[in-house]
Amino acid sequence: MENILVIGSSGQIGSELVIALRKLYGGEHVFATDIKSAPADVMEGGPFQILDVLDEKQLIHFVIRNRITQVYHLAAVLSGNAEKIPQQAWDINMRSLLNVLDLAREVKLKKVFWPSSIAVFGPTTPRVNTPQFTVMEPTTVYGISKMAGERWCDYYFKKFGLDTRSIRYPGLISYKTEAGGGTTDYAVEIFYEAVKHKKYECFLQEDTILPMMFMEDAINATIELMELPSEKISIRSSYNVAGISFSPKELALEIKKHIPEFEITYKPDFRQAIADSWPQSIDDSYARANNGWKHRFDLSRMTQVMLTEIGKKLA
Ligand code: SER
Repeated sequence: MENILVIGSSGQIGSELVIALRKLYGGEHVFATDIKSAPADVMEGGPFQILDVLDEKQLIHFVIRNRITQVYHLAAVLSGNAEKIPQQAWDINMRSLLNVLDLAREVKLKKVFWPSSIAVFGPTTPRVNTPQFTVMEPTTVYGISKMAGERWCDYYFKKFGLDTRSIRYPGLISYKTEAGGGTTDYAVEIFYEAVKHKKYECFLQEDTILPMMFMEDAINATIELMELPSEKISIRSSYNVAGISFSPKELALEIKKHIPEFEITYKPDFRQAIADSWPQSIDDSYARANNGWKHRFDLSRMTQVMLTEIGKKLA
């Protein structure tokens, strides 16, 4: 019997992952927690509690009391926000992970999932078809914390036999819960603005290509990885996983197919430098070979679903 704790269940990934996990394991076996309230379906479809992952005593009590066997730790300060509060972001991103890893070791959790990101790469990394194993010199606080986190996950696996699993998510695109403070978030905002105002001012330049993925693909990749038998997992730092790569201009053209009046303008800010330090596309052959991973949403299908769902939401 599995009891699963999701930390960060109110966020962009958590709010969808909780629902997917509850379908698989049953509502009462998936414990949603966050420092803020979650969407109604997350709070009503099973246990939900306000919990701060930085409070290690409360965390361990929660895990023991609810006989938790697996943890998905999703709470983090994203790239744009982290640049505004570097020390605090480092503290939150790192201490929360170490709390979870230590706790997992102490109570002998079966598995831990922790997300990494394309932000682990930097300007010295090959930007096209970025390999799984390559130069990693991230220049953002967020990227540094993700790179260090990957090393810690690998370390706990090798040193203590803890079953750690991770994915380097590209920019995630979803309609349920908006992301906050990321560099790839323009690709979410643009859909809301397109539906609401038929125009969008983009904080990245028109030709800035970044790796992206529709949330449904990301959730599938995550659950597929977590369902694999441990011996099938050859990478304990984090797997490269790829979906689609596009620029703001290409995305705007795709949106125009549905909303011909849509206009995009460009006013790059500090996030341009972050985007310029990240890959344009990702080689995920390890994940494809190891896990049988395959993305399903291309640019056109994703755009169609995003516009339809956001249209319904705002109606
Ligand atoms: N989407 C994240 C961000 O932009 C990267 O993992 O911060």
